[in-house]
Amino acid sequence: MSNFIEKTACTVIDWFNARTPGLLPAYRKHMSEYYAPKNFNFWYFFGSLAMLVLVNQIVTGIWLTMNYKPSAAEAFASVEYIMRDVEWGWLIRYMHSTGASMFFIVVYLHMFRGLIYGSYQKPRELVWLLGMFIFLALMAEAFFGYVLPWGQMSYWGAQVIINLFGAVPVIGPELTEWIRGDYLISDATLNRFFALHVIALPLVILLLVVLHLGALHEVGSNNPEGIDIKKVKNDKGIPLDGIPFHPYYTVKDIFGVGFFLILCAFILFFEPTVGGLFLEHDNFNEANPLVTPEHIKPVWYFTPFYAMLRAIPDKLLGVATMGGAVIILFFLPWLDRSPVRSIRYRGLLTKVLIAVFVVSFVVLGWLGMQSGSTLQSWVARALTFYYFAFFITMPIWTRIDATKPVPQRVPEHD
Ligand code: HEM
Repeated sequence: MSNFIEKTACTVIDWFNARTPGLLPAYRKHMSEYYAPKNFNFWYFFGSLAMLVLVNQIVTGIWLTMNYKPSAAEAFASVEYIMRDVEWGWLIRYMHSTGASMFFIVVYLHMFRGLIYGSYQKPRELVWLLGMFIFLALMAEAFFGYVLPWGQMSYWGAQVIINLFGAVPVIGPELTEWIRGDYLISDATLNRFFALHVIALPLVILLLVVLHLGALHEVGSNNPEGIDIKKVKNDKGIPLDGIPFHPYYTVKDIFGVGFFLILCAFILFFEPTVGGLFLEHDNFNEANPLVTPEHIKPVWYFTPFYAMLRAIPDKLLGVATMGGAVIILFFLPWLDRSPVRSIRYRGLLTKVLIAVFVVSFVVLGWLGMQSGSTLQSWVARALTFYYFAFFITMPIWTRIDATKPVPQRVPEHD
């Protein structure tokens, strides 16, 4: 019996391979013969989880679109209809809204892994750059998506963000009008944001993810030791510290997926808005151009950058600071001049500076959700200064910090 199944499977594979000659070699190159370092740890779950969340967003998004109405007159009611009358609509909607926050949690942790293990260093600069373009596209995607339910925060959040473009010298006012497609945020704005959210940006993100993984598989994965496993190979040319991605990491990633889905289920079924953090309370009221909410603030994943914007009194300078905070991340591969990759082989200075960086980023995120009192603004200013100083002085502190010798092979403790 098993012989029969094996033979049939081989015949089917041969049949496909004869008609799509690239498929089997691609499977080998990227799965069964992609030798990944054997010491991947917790931090290496987040790439595959990001892919999982991306698929979740696309699938739940398609189902939402079946009942959502992209018009200023009907959008809010159509979302309420999905939540109350469409069978399982509430679950689909919460999977999508929770998915958006989970996407950012996963991506921030994924980026942090890159920072602590120096994954952006040579030869993975392009992997990082493509990741940064994904990050930009993801921010735009989340922003457009948040406008669609046409709640109070959708409307006023969009108002704040679009008005930022008004700070651009000379063309500012015309630029904001061009983005809105009207003199104020209206049906025309909602329509174009819908088009960008459901088709344009998902396509861009998908393409960038393919390029991101293509670039990674060209040079090979980094690992928690920051060791180049390709340096030590056996006589068949296989890295001694490498293991085939499939089945070893497919199985390991499935474990991570299981754990992650349990966590998501807890959020979805017990606290889907996470107390107003994942979906703000104000967004359960329909958009009203005549009533400004008391506190206009973005969703948590934008608040660190929003805190920087608010910390600077001058509008143009504030916008430049906020934009600069994202743009500077593109340069990370060239700012880090350390001769070693992983934090495990770096000195105390790096560890302390990174720890302070994490704390200040989280505190900025918290500050971005607050009302912005004078004291809070000063703290935000100090932390913004630290954020930029961390990156600008990186070429210096990464060079002067002590390092430990990096071994040739992955050590036993791993
Ligand atoms: C939709 C979003 C993203 C997806 C689906 C994605 C997917 C992946 C996957 C599957 C891997 C290989 C597995 C792993 O190392 O965890 C990976 C590696 C990597 N990603 Fe991403 N990624 C995304 C966003 C980003 C962003 C925003 C950045 C940084 C700006 C980034 C930087 C990297 C780096 C540097 C690596 C190589 C890590 C190493 O080898 O140590 N990625 N990504």
